[in-house]
Amino acid sequence: MYLLSFRLRADQAGRLYDYLDSLPEPPFSALSLTQSEAQNPKQAEEVLALYLPDLPAAQRLQKTLETRFPDLALHRFTPEMIKPQDWVAKSQQGLAPVRAGRFLIHGRHDRKGHNLAGHHRTALRGFRDRIEIDAAQAFGTGHHGTTCGCLLALEQLARASSRPRIRKIFDLGTGTGILAIASTRLFQASILAADIDPVAVAIARHNARLNGAHGCLGRLGRLRIVAAAGFEQPIIRTAMPFDLIIANVLAAPLKTLAPAFRQATHLGSYLVLSGLTRCQTRGLLARFRNFGFIPMATYNLDDWTTLTLKRRD
Ligand SMILES: C[S@@+](CC[C@H](N)C(=O)[O-])C[C@H]1O[C@@H](n2cnc3c(N)ncnc32)[C@H](O)[C@@H]1O
Repeated sequence: MYLLSFRLRADQAGRLYDYLDSLPEPPFSALSLTQSEAQNPKQAEEVLALYLPDLPAAQRLQKTLETRFPDLALHRFTPEMIKPQDWVAKSQQGLAPVRAGRFLIHGRHDRKGHNLAGHHRTALRGFRDRIEIDAAQAFGTGHHGTTCGCLLALEQLARASSRPRIRKIFDLGTGTGILAIASTRLFQASILAADIDPVAVAIARHNARLNGAHGCLGRLGRLRIVAAAGFEQPIIRTAMPFDLIIANVLAAPLKTLAPAFRQATHLGSYLVLSGLTRCQTRGLLARFRNFGFIPMATYNLDDWTTLTLKRRD
């Protein structure tokens, strides 16, 4: 997998993003736009990142963009080979183990590396940060564009050294618990996870135990999983405000929940939202802007978009 990233002025990155986002058959598997947090908006820079399957594909796209946008001097940037995002490609290969940055997400049948091709077996044995997911009837194996987008967004939030500490996290619609479990490893935080579906809650608790994350201090974070619709549970209301809320549900419930997201956060809190298609993004952003949230990063995988937003007022 190759990463082609361009650090540009915000207006230049915006032009490039609009063009790439409108391609009918994009050669990249994911496109993200991360905004810097500069004090002076005139100096704001953005990093536009594209994930491509191989070097020739990255070089071809770079040449096309250089020709189309000669004023941006895109020849200054060099594609790099990356290991952490291998999982983006793996996500399109059925239910094989998915590599998600520092994590390897796998099912029970792959626990001992059985049924795997040679290099997978080595990877599974050698991997320290494994998350085992028994999906059963719940959603969230790491193979869907929305879950992948959330994992990318969470890793980026955890990695960015300039971020203030994220201490309290809420995972709304936890499904298998995958994002909450990953969060226990990424953040030194207490994590509450909820799902409207009691079957998903049972599965998420099972997965959290399987990964040594439920109820007690995990490697870093403390995780509790409850049955609740939205924020409707005293335990959730007592824990507010959250520094980060993750919600991979559909666009319509996200829009409905926008005022509740505001109530459940403070100035500077982050939201990672997913479950929307690309064409729903503009409408959702407009709705969340009205509640004080501005976009920080966008991840497009397959036809799905994941957004990182930050509360600015
Ligand atoms: C698309 S799945 C996401 C699962 C997992 N978080 C992931 O990213 O893979 C959405 C989950 O949200 C739950 N859900 C939908 N609406 C909800 C609501 N209002 N409150 C709590 N959970 C909800 C569903 O039951 C489902 O398990």
